[in-house]
Amino acid sequence: MPTRLQPVQLTPTGVVLIDQTTLPARLSHQTITTTAGMIEAIQTMVVRGAPAIGIAGAFGVVLAARQALGSPTFVGDVYAAADQLADARPTAVNLMWAINQMTTCLDACVSQDQTPQAIIQQLTTTAQAILAQDIAMNQAMGQYGKVVVPVGARILTHCNAGALATGGYGTALGVIRAAFADDPTISVFADETRPRQQGARLTTWELAQDGIPVTLVSDGMCASLMSSGLVDVVIVGADRIAANGDTANKIGTHTVALVAKAFGVPFYVAAPYSTFDPTLPTGEGIPIEFRPDDEMTTINGERICANGVGVYNPSFDVTPAQLITGIITEKGIARPNYGDSLNQWRRPYGPVSIKQAIA
Ligand code: MRU
Repeated sequence: MPTRLQPVQLTPTGVVLIDQTTLPARLSHQTITTTAGMIEAIQTMVVRGAPAIGIAGAFGVVLAARQALGSPTFVGDVYAAADQLADARPTAVNLMWAINQMTTCLDACVSQDQTPQAIIQQLTTTAQAILAQDIAMNQAMGQYGKVVVPVGARILTHCNAGALATGGYGTALGVIRAAFADDPTISVFADETRPRQQGARLTTWELAQDGIPVTLVSDGMCASLMSSGLVDVVIVGADRIAANGDTANKIGTHTVALVAKAFGVPFYVAAPYSTFDPTLPTGEGIPIEFRPDDEMTTINGERICANGVGVYNPSFDVTPAQLITGIITEKGIARPNYGDSLNQWRRPYGPVSIKQAIA
């Protein structure tokens, strides 16, 4: 049952994004026409989720090329914009990966002395391929991953790793969608995911759209749930996976993994190869984004704590590989020891066809 949500789309007038800041109250869209506009949309989380910001970044390079048309420094302008886009958020490696695909395409165009018009065409084709490939990989992950979901399972997930966070369909929620298509008795617990409440605002909305039963829980409830035997399996997404399997994901994921280990609940990560960072041997080197204080001190614009308090707001944490039962990818399920299987499945950076990606 593929979801029809399309969080990022390229149109002749600009890049149309589902505005993820207004959900679930309102399904609205923003049309982005400039590099600066795309950087702002990524930073303010109008578009968010590791694969989705990668796709948005790739389309941002197309916008940069459209903007630079007619400039005597066309190629330099596009490279400069690509660098700025890659820096928009630091943790999800998918953003850097997608920009890398785009600059590799630009390098090839420049070496062939192509015209600006032809370059825009090539960049557009590459960005559209990144989007199509992401959806195909999510669907492949769903097929591989559904075997870890027992009949009638109650699944806990954290943050939003769904269609909204990707090109469409989702990673963790893609596995859940595929499992639900076979077994409509499964159900989901969605962690609220403070401070930005992606679980409450986005995951519950997305699953409800597809008629998948979902129960909202707050982040502190996972030990209560698991000690009561109410969770059969945990499935989450990822923002960056080091060579040894250490996984950065939304803040609070590490806590869920520790609790799952304590209560013997299997803990799975679902992610495409664009989330793997083979340059980092362990999770220690993963850069963690710190976000503005007001995400913590306010809810819907209302202050929820005393004035003058200190605030600590890392947006991601790193779950050690030894807490992870398996990593669901578009090529199969990697099991410990992750270094071996991830290395074997690793794809070189550069354009990869959908067929190759899911072969
Ligand atoms: O800050 P966000 O909302 O961009 O963080 C998103 C997450 O942590 C997701 O779990 C992750 O990107 C996987 S999305 C398929």
